[in-house]
Amino acid sequence: MSKKLWGSRFSKKPSAFTDRFTSSISFDKRLAKYDILGSIAHAKMLGKQKIIPLKDASLIVKGLKSILKDVQKGSFKFDAGAEDVHSNIQEALAKRIGDPAHKLHTARSRNDQIALDVKMYIKDQAQEMIDLIISLQKSILKLAKSNAKVIIPGYTHLQIAQCVLLAHQLLAYMESLERDKTRIEDALKRADLMPLGACAFSGTGLPIDRENVKKELGFGGLTENSIDSVSDRDFIIEMLADLSILSVHLSRIAEDLILWSTKEFNFIDIDFSFCTGSSIMPHKKNPDVLELIRGSFGKIHGDLSSVLILMKGLPSSYNRDLQLDKPPLFDAIDTMENILEIFAELFQNIVIEKEAIAARLTDESLFSVDIVEYLIKKGVSYRQAHDIVGKMVRDCLDKGKKISGLNLAELRKYSKHFDKGLKDVLNAQASVDLKVSYGSTNPKLVAGRIKNWETRLNR
Ligand code: ARG
Repeated sequence: MSKKLWGSRFSKKPSAFTDRFTSSISFDKRLAKYDILGSIAHAKMLGKQKIIPLKDASLIVKGLKSILKDVQKGSFKFDAGAEDVHSNIQEALAKRIGDPAHKLHTARSRNDQIALDVKMYIKDQAQEMIDLIISLQKSILKLAKSNAKVIIPGYTHLQIAQCVLLAHQLLAYMESLERDKTRIEDALKRADLMPLGACAFSGTGLPIDRENVKKELGFGGLTENSIDSVSDRDFIIEMLADLSILSVHLSRIAEDLILWSTKEFNFIDIDFSFCTGSSIMPHKKNPDVLELIRGSFGKIHGDLSSVLILMKGLPSSYNRDLQLDKPPLFDAIDTMENILEIFAELFQNIVIEKEAIAARLTDESLFSVDIVEYLIKKGVSYRQAHDIVGKMVRDCLDKGKKISGLNLAELRKYSKHFDKGLKDVLNAQASVDLKVSYGSTNPKLVAGRIKNWETRLNR
């Protein structure tokens, strides 16, 4: 059991149970790199400001760098009995350089230290997350581009609705992912304020230079209030909220793909390498990877709830409850990075079942809106046109006929405005070509969007 940073005030050691119960080293050791980088910047500043002798500062920096090297090689032995990562590194430093190590914690508290560590971690992970989202977008774009002409029946309420380009649907995913990316970028701005120097919560009487530490650590700005600096965990909540929204999108995409891969839809085939089988039903090929992606939202949203509930009603400044913000943060980040990685791979392993899809496009209910718009263009009011087409659809369904099978005389019973030109409307290609509004599924517009995405993602 390591020595406590606060041991001398205590007339008695904490019980073994208290030690175990309060220790966070099992999970916060993953912050070691940031803890050390923060300490290096802090020690350099202490030396520069003559708060500690320059000679001690450089010894501390040297010692910390050697610990960092070991941490990065994976050869640093974390002390399972340490209270937290801060104590563990501090003690390791004392072992390596002796007495000067005890000057490192001057004008600092673990309260501002942990806020700094987590912010640095989040800044790195946010960048990683953004890169992973971009990889997924590239993967989706590739599928869209190589199937740019494919038209699929689109659905609302999961009932067959209208024709759209498959690429248009895939680009819809791109838009939601883009919002997720910019949400993370935006949260980054607020996480980019350096808290060190707040100390326990009131600041310090020693002449520290926070600006110097900020620059050394590459932060965009300083936190402005020492109490807020150690109380604030918005940067964790924002990250978790952003990941929760992202996971809503990913679970929607996963659900679409799962549906499309069913025998009933048969729009896509997902490569065997992303599926598993059944122990009892020999014929099965189940989309388990996608199901786990869909299911992971529960975990990530649980992580967000967990931190929100942890924070609610806490008094100002540091409270030990805050230690419990890290496991949910780490869980959500690990889960999401895994998902983004495998999802990008999976998109490369989807085959579009073009013939099966084409066979579905003969369902003429897909063109009902096109017929309505055909009539509107001839001067019929929207209401009337809707009624006319509604009747046609009902009669055709009742009599087992197709609209394209009606002759001109039969068509004119519904409206005198019908002419031979109607036949040209009753096909999937016409259906998408006819759309002209900005943002619609019109092939020229979609091709333009694909180009636009390409330039954007390759920037
Ligand atoms: N391990 C704590 C955390 O994760 C930081 C230590 C602060 N401890 C203290 N007694 N002030 O938040």
